[in-house]
Amino acid sequence: MRAAISLLVLLFSMCGAQTRSTQTEVQTESQSTGAAAAAAAAEVSTQLDVSAELKELRDRVQKQEIMVVELRVALRYIQDELKIMEGENSDVKERVVVSETRLAVSEAEVMNLRKETAAQSADLRSVAERLAATETDMEQVKKDTAAQHTDLTTMKTEVMNLTKENEAIVTKVDDLKLENSAQEAELTAVKTRLAATETEVDNLETEIKAAPKVAFSAGLTDLGYVESGNTDLNLVFSRIITNVGQAYSSRSGFFTAPVRGVYYFRFTVMDVLGSRYMQIRMFKNGQQLMWLSEHDTDGYNSYLSGGLTLQLEVGDAVNMVLPAGYRLYDNVNNHSIFSGFLVFPL
Ligand SMILES: *[C@@H]1O[C@H](CO)[C@@H](O)[C@H](O)[C@H]1NC(C)=O
Ligand SMILES: *[C@@H]1O[C@H](CO)[C@@H](O)[C@H](O)[C@H]1NC(C)=O
Repeated sequence: MRAAISLLVLLFSMCGAQTRSTQTEVQTESQSTGAAAAAAAAEVSTQLDVSAELKELRDRVQKQEIMVVELRVALRYIQDELKIMEGENSDVKERVVVSETRLAVSEAEVMNLRKETAAQSADLRSVAERLAATETDMEQVKKDTAAQHTDLTTMKTEVMNLTKENEAIVTKVDDLKLENSAQEAELTAVKTRLAATETEVDNLETEIKAAPKVAFSAGLTDLGYVESGNTDLNLVFSRIITNVGQAYSSRSGFFTAPVRGVYYFRFTVMDVLGSRYMQIRMFKNGQQLMWLSEHDTDGYNSYLSGGLTLQLEVGDAVNMVLPAGYRLYDNVNNHSIFSGFLVFPL
C-alpha cells in the first residue's frame, strides 16, 4: 500500500515536471516569435534550427506518449492495487469495527474494573481502618498483657509467700498435733485418774452416807435446882436440843456408842454458890473419867466446864454424875448442858 502510494506520487511529480518544461518551451517559443517579427533576416538562418527543434519536440512528444502509455499501465496497476487495498481497507475497517467493539467491551470491562477497583479501594480503606483499630486494640491488649504479667508476677510472689507461710503453718500444725497428742495422752491419764478419784469420792460418799451420824446436846432442866442428896445422882439432861442418831437417851441420861470410833464429849454445869462447893464427874461404862470441883464465895452464878476425846467400842456408855451432897441449877436459859459427837468411826 505504502509502496503503491509512493509510486503514484512519483508518477504525478514526473507528469508535472513534463508539463512545466513544455510550458517553458511554449513561453520561450512565443517570446521567440515576437522577436522574429523584428528580425526577419535572422529567421531564415534559424529555420534549420527550428526544424531540428521540432524534430526534437516530436521525439519528446513520442517519448511522452510512450510514458503516458506506461503511466496508464502503471495507473491501471495502481488502480488494481488500489482495489486490492480498498478490499484490504474494508477488511481493516471490519477489523477496526471488531476492534472497536472489543474496545467498547474492554472499556466497559475497564469501567467495571474501575468500579470494582474503587469498591476494592473502599474495602481496602475499610480494612486498613479496621487494621488500624485492631492494631490499637492490639497495643491495648499488649499493655493489658504487660499489666497482667506484672500482676501475675506479684501473684506468683504472693503465692510463694503464702506457700512458705503455709509450710510454716503446717509445721506449726504438726507441732501442735504432737503437743495435742501429748496433751491427749496426759488428758487420758488425767481422765483415768479422775475416774479413779471419782470412784474414790463415790466410795467415800457411800462410806460417809453409810457412816453413822452421831451428835447431841441436851439441857439439864428448866425447873431450877437438882440435888443428889446422900447418894451419887446419875444426871439426866432431859431437854434435848440436838440428838442426831438417837445415841443419847433423854430418859436414862446415858450416851451409848453405836459404832466403834472416836467421840468428843463436853459439859457445862452451874450453881449459885455462897461459900459452897460444886462438883461433877464423868463415867464411861461405870468407870470415872473426870471429877471436877469448884468453890465460890461471892453468892453469884458459878460454872464448871470440861471436855474429853474418847475412843469407844460399840455399846460403850458415857454419863455424867452429881456426887452425893451437891446440887446444880438450870432453867430455860440452858445453864447446864451435856454435848457429844462422833469425830470419826474406826
Ligand atoms: C513476700 O514476702 C516478702 C518478705 O517476707 C515481702 O517483702 C514481700 O512484700 C512479699 N510479697 C507479697 C507480694 O506479699
Ligand atoms: C434453851 O434450849 C431450848 C431448846 O431445848 C430453847 O428452846 C431455848 O430457847 C433455850 N433458852 C435460851 C434462853 O436460849
